[in-house]
Amino acid sequence: MKYRTMGKLGFQSSAFGLGCMRFNGAASGDSVIDEQKAISLIRRAIDGGVTYLDTAYVYLDKTSEIVLGKALQDGYRDRVTIATKMPMEYVHNRAEMEALLESELKKLQTDHIDFYLMHGINREKWEYFKSIGAPEFFNDMRAAGKIRFRCFSFHGPYEDFEYIINDWDWDMVQIQYNFMDIGNQAGTRGLELAGRKGIPVVIMEGLLGGRLAKAPGNVQALYDAFPVRRTPVEWAFRWLCNHPEVSVVLSGCNEAEQIDDNLRIFDSVEAGIMSEAELKLMDDVRSAYFSRTRIGCTGCRYCMPCPNGVSIPDIFSVWNNVSLYETDPRGNWDLRRIRENSQGADHCIGCGACEAACPQHLSIIDSLQQAWKELTAE
Ligand SMILES: NC(=O)c1ccc[n+]([C@@H]2O[C@H](COP(=O)([O-])OP(=O)(O)OC[C@H]3O[C@@H](n4cnc5c(N)ncnc54)[C@H](OP(=O)(O)O)[C@@H]3O)[C@@H](O)[C@H]2O)c1
Repeated sequence: MKYRTMGKLGFQSSAFGLGCMRFNGAASGDSVIDEQKAISLIRRAIDGGVTYLDTAYVYLDKTSEIVLGKALQDGYRDRVTIATKMPMEYVHNRAEMEALLESELKKLQTDHIDFYLMHGINREKWEYFKSIGAPEFFNDMRAAGKIRFRCFSFHGPYEDFEYIINDWDWDMVQIQYNFMDIGNQAGTRGLELAGRKGIPVVIMEGLLGGRLAKAPGNVQALYDAFPVRRTPVEWAFRWLCNHPEVSVVLSGCNEAEQIDDNLRIFDSVEAGIMSEAELKLMDDVRSAYFSRTRIGCTGCRYCMPCPNGVSIPDIFSVWNNVSLYETDPRGNWDLRRIRENSQGADHCIGCGACEAACPQHLSIIDSLQQAWKELTAE
């Protein structure tokens, strides 16, 4: 495992940080997470050298922090730093912020949180957090030793990012970044701005929720033609770690093989190691992807649950995958399951709750109709 400096904080962290948002059930499609499996994955990562773990109050129906807390018993807590988050929707005043933080400490079975983040903010949400006294609360909790670092995770346009990062004395930022998102959200400009300020950057969605792990035909052909053979996951993480401003790359892993693979990859990736030819390859790969993607849904599931039961991210995932892999939707098992469970876009009533929650600001209602038309055409 390579360790990287956390910007102005000075200490080192594992380059690979385990995201605790995507643990799944014992069987494919299970909605209840397999706790023992998740605990063993977390400990496997820590035993392999991971020192950074990311969770949030809302992840996995509010069970992610509980599972992480259990995994960190038996001496594991002392070996890692924990990042968790305060969601805007659950706090309206100081008393509620205090109660929420206390509940997180209890679920995590710890007396302090290392990185405490205002969750998924843009400029509007930052103004809200300021209006309820969140910055003062974070300062007070730091003084009380309940949190160590005051941070935010970001989803929004670059201009919002620039405003927020310059508006307070932040200790760390978490942004969505990968070789497809150089001009999206905080993007490369945001990454470099944080770097200039000495603020450590933690990366989320480095594989776009797993989409970059499976290269479609025209992308795989580019990888195959390159003299050095690497997996798509390796290329994606290598590209991220090539940036000196990146401190930690989060990845949510559901299988031991993925943990082991990522441990292997993060054993050798370092800032500035990519050659001109490698960087050119990634530019070509990006262009090849953009020529195929139907919608930029990352499967973060912030839009869920849909009040009418529409399985929004799953429909978009099928739509993208069918396009990326040129497969026949009639043979798609995920689509069949969506239809059998009455979770199709034909149940959408256009209420817009999903669009208000989407960190990617997608036109979900129109896209659902288009996707459904194409996916169900006979
Ligand atoms: N604060 C926020 O607003 C926010 C938003 C999003 C995420 N996050 C955090 O960031 C973390 C990382 O985000 P993410 O889960 O979207 O990360 P990601 O790395 O973009 O995607 C994770 C997915 O990539 C696939 N994967 C990972 N390693 C692999 C490997 N070696 N080989 C093949 N496939 C691999 C898995 O997909 P399959 O399951 O398909 O196999 C996994 O579920 C989350 O867990 C969460 O903690 C925060």
